[in-house]
Amino acid sequence: MGELRPETLKRIETTEAADAFIAEQIEAIRNQVGNKKVLLALSGGVDSSVCAALLIKAIGQNLVCVHVNHGLLRKGEPEQVVEVFRNQMNANLVYVDAVDRFLDKLAGVTDPETKRKIIGGEFIRVFEEEARKQEGIEFLAQGTIYPDILESDGVKAHHNVGGLPDDLQFELVEPVKFLYKDEVRVVGKALGLPDSMVYRQPFPGPGLGVRCTGAITRDRLEALREADAIVREEVGTLNPVPWQYFAVVPDIQSTGIKDSKRYMGWPVIIRAITTVDAVTAKSVEIPFDMLCRIRDRIIETVPGVNRVLWDISNKPVSTIEWE
Ligand code: XMP
Repeated sequence: MGELRPETLKRIETTEAADAFIAEQIEAIRNQVGNKKVLLALSGGVDSSVCAALLIKAIGQNLVCVHVNHGLLRKGEPEQVVEVFRNQMNANLVYVDAVDRFLDKLAGVTDPETKRKIIGGEFIRVFEEEARKQEGIEFLAQGTIYPDILESDGVKAHHNVGGLPDDLQFELVEPVKFLYKDEVRVVGKALGLPDSMVYRQPFPGPGLGVRCTGAITRDRLEALREADAIVREEVGTLNPVPWQYFAVVPDIQSTGIKDSKRYMGWPVIIRAITTVDAVTAKSVEIPFDMLCRIRDRIIETVPGVNRVLWDISNKPVSTIEWE
């Protein structure tokens, strides 16, 4: 159990409150780090993005953002990180294309927890290598948020492994550590981050790796990435938007028929759930016409897929992710 949220910190619900918080944090960050350099692993998720945007405002080029593309990100995500942070915010961004490295390590690995360990462990190694290439880093920024502190026993801690070696133990800068997720979003909006980043649904650290079940292959992963983009585009128009909605491509094949010829292809599974805390979850109703549109778009455009299914399971007994 870490520090408790200060009683003087009022809930951040308005742009004015967010602006005041941003001004306070800019001053606090400047006081903490002075003219020293700070390193940050920037995934493109809400927490690390807001953390990065705050630090860019406070110390500009002295923040070194490292974005590791491990090949398991969703369609368009690495490009968006580069566009928003390097091109629009003029951040000092190191983009690491580690796709082959991760996928080679994962080749043939079927056990979900082993896959998680490989992804988590390799991530730390890539990040460590980049940290060693940088000169004069004295601080490590992290997008820790308040629930992470309260639930040090929670899902993230349970699933995500690893840490930097002893000689790279920098002092931490954690500007959003007392905020709840909804407050982080209000701050992100006030910082000018795009809605697609600020209102992004939760996405597991191992990314598409746990939705491309069993041994990940590049062709099935690509099919998943394309199908997932279609599912997100369609289901994201529901009101209210579900907590999580995504595609899964399991490691099974079934018979399809095209031009009178039978062939084997993968199914795409659609999953949309609502929850308050991810401990229990309910399947969200997707209108049949939307399901049909998703089916048609996937079948017409995603190579290797010949069937579309809808997972209507609740948690318990089904977990949100397939692995
Ligand atoms: P499950 O599948 O256990 O997921 O019902 C509960 C929530 O946790 C997310 N999840 C993960 N998040 N690393 C993460 O950071 C992981 O390895 C991981 N596995 C599951 C999942 O997306 C859901 O929000």
